[in-house]
Amino acid sequence: MENSTTKYTIATIGNPILREVAAEVVDFSSQDLQQFIDDLINTVIDENGVGIAAPQVSVSKQIMIIASRPNARYPTAPEMEPTALINPKIIEYSQELEKGWEGCLSVPGIRGLVPRYTWVDVRYQDRQGECLEARFEGFVARIFQHEYDHLIGNTYLDRLESNRDIISEEEYQIRLSK
Ligand code: NI
Repeated sequence: MENSTTKYTIATIGNPILREVAAEVVDFSSQDLQQFIDDLINTVIDENGVGIAAPQVSVSKQIMIIASRPNARYPTAPEMEPTALINPKIIEYSQELEKGWEGCLSVPGIRGLVPRYTWVDVRYQDRQGECLEARFEGFVARIFQHEYDHLIGNTYLDRLESNRDIISEEEYQIRLSK
């Protein structure tokens, strides 16, 4: 038996939906929400992403997936189960910032060197609506902050210190992906 899954089209910069503040999710009982989360997970895996936020598929709701694992676009990413975080909030964060390279499915063709908190304590709801707290560190903290930005109308480009911190995807793969 085959699962029915949808792979979404990714909204790219210039699409006004990426500048909206996403709406809170209130109804966790709907089958539509569960199907949407599954489809979002399939989409991020299919696109070789390590995270995705609902506004990137033109759904302005506070839903993100963290799906870190080594893939063609992120060969050294740590492996974890794809996890849905709904209505997430940052409740505490490190004093220290660390710069690291990021790409974004909504910003095709380039990468940027982005300063982020080294750890964040977050509160969110899981796909059943249960309230959870977690501390994310390192690369996963970076993914969280990147996806959280999508929920408040930002992209990583808004976090760059300088345009000189932008490189092409080709140069990234040649010079920096190992
Ligand atoms: Ni992104």
